[in-house]
Amino acid sequence: MTVSSRTQVGIVGAGPAGLLLSHLLALRGVDSIVVENRSRAYCEARQRAGLLEAGSVELLRQVGLGARMDAEGLEHGGIYLQFAGERHHLDFRDLTGGRWVTIWAQTEIVKDLIRTRLADGGAIEFEVSDTEVADPDSDSPVLRYTDAAGNRHEVTCDAIAGCDGFHGICRHSLPAGLLRVADREYPYAWLGILATVPPSTDELIYSRHADGFALHTMRTPQVSRLYLQVPADDEIERWSDDRIWAELRHRLGVPGWELATGPITEKAISPMRSFVAAPMQYGRLFLAGDAAHIVPPTGAKGLNLAIADVTVLATALVNLLRDHDPRAAKEYSDTCLRRVWRATHFSWWMTSMLHIDPYADEFGAELQLSQLRYVISSRAAATTLAENYTGYLPLRW
Ligand code: FAD
Ligand code: PHB
Repeated sequence: MTVSSRTQVGIVGAGPAGLLLSHLLALRGVDSIVVENRSRAYCEARQRAGLLEAGSVELLRQVGLGARMDAEGLEHGGIYLQFAGERHHLDFRDLTGGRWVTIWAQTEIVKDLIRTRLADGGAIEFEVSDTEVADPDSDSPVLRYTDAAGNRHEVTCDAIAGCDGFHGICRHSLPAGLLRVADREYPYAWLGILATVPPSTDELIYSRHADGFALHTMRTPQVSRLYLQVPADDEIERWSDDRIWAELRHRLGVPGWELATGPITEKAISPMRSFVAAPMQYGRLFLAGDAAHIVPPTGAKGLNLAIADVTVLATALVNLLRDHDPRAAKEYSDTCLRRVWRATHFSWWMTSMLHIDPYADEFGAELQLSQLRYVISSRAAATTLAENYTGYLPLRW
């Protein structure tokens, strides 16, 4: 038996994009349901991003999600760029007239969003299966799924938001031939760890080392997060904790500085790719976040793009469904893609400048070093990095 129901917006995926969208819509009186194929515990524990642009921070504050972030998040006014055995500081506040970023884990944003939506009576269905989208080109698209108890549901909606990440189904629900894809695979991956040890640095260290890139970031004053460039086909089983710490010490080391080590509580390898699918909409089906685009994590843009997409989408859907004004909805894809391509270029540039390409020759390596020397010696070049890193146009809500 199929249970039929109706809502205004059907949202696929309870990652940051889907959850924030349902929260923004609720603030303006638009109903939604979020369906998610994983459990709540899994969504709240999945280790991903950690760095928010100022615009993302301000948006979260504006919509009532700032309390824990303001109390526990770590504001950073710069980064260190390391290469050829030397560490250099870039001061974002000085370069950009006061801009900054905040370390605040994606897991914490997701926890706050789930708690807030459920407290406000919002509908989130975890552990669903066989999600399907039908009739996206009609005024009543349909969302189908099977709930955790095995009941099949059919929800008639006014619009559907595909916030189901890179491996989701919504992108594939657009008609074949409509979607254009531009992408790059990189011949390396990131091995990321979470460790119970105070960070050995006050700000993030991005290190280009002849044996591969390394990044020292953090989550809290007691928890460090670190990444190592590894071959694209590497396996986590080949990396003992001792080997990871030795390689981090080697790639991040400079004279007079010590890397503190501690118990590793989590380790995983993530592939690196750039991917942009366009258009991000078809009829009343809208794609947002990783469902439409992926960037390599070097520029820390993925979560920030997801937040930006759904801020634009929420406004467009409120205009469409409450005020019967379709203009912003029609422009949704073009509006988002301008920011997406800026972030895609920046992430590709940071990635190419800092990683060791196994197929590059001496020419490629010398170009990288020249670019890095330019960034630390030219105020114009440093400002370009700082402006892109701290974020683009403010989010309007
Ligand atoms: P997701 O978080 O992928 O959420 C999609 C959800 O949809 C998931 O919960 C999934 O289970 C669900 N789903 C999938 N298919 C279905 C289905 N068929 N039915 C129902 N539900 C479904 N970004 C930054 O901005 N800063 C950083 O510092 C940063 N660091 C990163 C570090 C790493 C190691 C990685 C891997 C990523 C990093 N990112 C960073 C990127 C960031 O984590 C992602 O861009 C972000 O998670 C995108 O959010 P989303 O909601 O679009 O997608
Ligand atoms: C993180 O804190 O996980 C992080 C920070 C900056 C990046 C990537 C990841 O560029």
